[in-house]
Amino acid sequence: MNVLFVCLGNICRSPTAEGVFRQRVRAAGLEERIRIDSAGTADWHAGKQPDRRSCQAAARRGYDLAVLRARQVQVEDFQRFDLILAMDHDNLLRLKDIQPDSARAELDLLLRRYGLGRGVVPDPYYGGADG
Ligand code: 4NP
Repeated sequence: MNVLFVCLGNICRSPTAEGVFRQRVRAAGLEERIRIDSAGTADWHAGKQPDRRSCQAAARRGYDLAVLRARQVQVEDFQRFDLILAMDHDNLLRLKDIQPDSARAELDLLLRRYGLGRGVVPDPYYGGADG
């Protein structure tokens, strides 16, 4: 199974989801069977490391995000991935806008799919440390 996490910039929320999920999948011995990636609907930060604040918040919890690099969602992703999980409604709508007719991937909101939290992961970029 191939899973892609998507947010806006691919430097805060989706790399965090990727880093946490990657570690859980590895711990479960499933890394040969589950391909994991993340991307942003915007290209503003393509090629960059995750945001310093995200790296620090993750590192405090034992996850290393510094190896990741941002990229924008590509039309091929709808073919490559089985499941594309967006962090919020805006990004889910952006994905639906560019989804080709031939898409294989199922689209959903990460938290809605698993009945977690408030349904969306709020954009943390312009807020303070709480984000
Ligand atoms: P992300 O957060 O979508 O979780 O990576 C953001 C990162 C950058 C911007 C907005 C949100 N930005 O406006 O540059």
